[in-house]
Amino acid sequence: MYFQWYPGHMTKAKRMMQENIKLVDLVIELVDARIPLSSRNPDIDGLSRNKARVVLLNKSDLAQERWNDAWCGYFEEKGFLAVKVNSKKGSGMKALQNVIGEACKEKTLRDRKRGILNRPVRAMVVGIPNVGKSTLINALAGKACTKTGNKPGVTKGKQWIRLNRQVELLDTPGILWPKFEDQRVGLYLAFIGSIKDEILNTEELATAFIELMCAEYPGVLDEKYKINGSDDSYRILEAIAESRHCLVRGNELDVDKAAALLLDDFRNGRLGRITLEKCEI
Ligand code: G4P
Repeated sequence: MYFQWYPGHMTKAKRMMQENIKLVDLVIELVDARIPLSSRNPDIDGLSRNKARVVLLNKSDLAQERWNDAWCGYFEEKGFLAVKVNSKKGSGMKALQNVIGEACKEKTLRDRKRGILNRPVRAMVVGIPNVGKSTLINALAGKACTKTGNKPGVTKGKQWIRLNRQVELLDTPGILWPKFEDQRVGLYLAFIGSIKDEILNTEELATAFIELMCAEYPGVLDEKYKINGSDDSYRILEAIAESRHCLVRGNELDVDKAAALLLDDFRNGRLGRITLEKCEI
């Protein structure tokens, strides 16, 4: 499977970020805790030069705790402030508020010396499609102030959100980058649902996912779908179709439906907590 594209709206989104970066003190970058490296847009580092940086390990509830902690340590070592959060449940928000204050301590001191009091910290929230930006902002703001959606690319246009007297957030549309140096990155992004399913071959994606699961989490699929393991990932997909009664025209196996079901189960945490990218650095 080969991934390469650059839809117009992503170019527009990048331009919007370039134009607005000078307005903010801080960049809050959301990554997906299941793939903390592959879910980072490499353009962000260049764009955020000289800005305070916070990395949020979002969807930490879907990844294994030991790897969440290891990844926080990794990012801290690289000079970021890092926090694991579950935006859906709202956990980690207090820690995030503290970290925002900490990240902008120098700026606040500088302001104070120049006689500027109570200028709010302005932060830009960035992250790839579907990583949870809107959910995070809703959790922080305490009400449904931005539109959230289950399809990549729902957050559109420029949006400032005033959290309180101290912090203002600039929401940005999720952007991917034009080309993946490592095709595995594209695959991981497709697994977590950050690349539109319509442009993908679900069956191929599901068999690639099965291969990875068999190598990294042996036994999980067998237990979940009550099937007997096999060396052949397509055979496993068929077994899932059988076990879940995915059928077409009476009794033919609907492998495509089983593929969609499997990916949906993974994306929503129904296979348990799974970290696809482990911290070995
Ligand atoms: P985006 O703005 O970055 O594109 O992402 P958005 O907030 O729309 O979130 C995408 C999906 O991820 C939503 O699911 C949302 O609920 C889910 N999500 C966000 N943060 C977390 C988290 O920390 N943990 C978990 N488990 N899920 C999270 P959805 O299925 O599209 O919508 P919904 O049915 O949950 O409302």
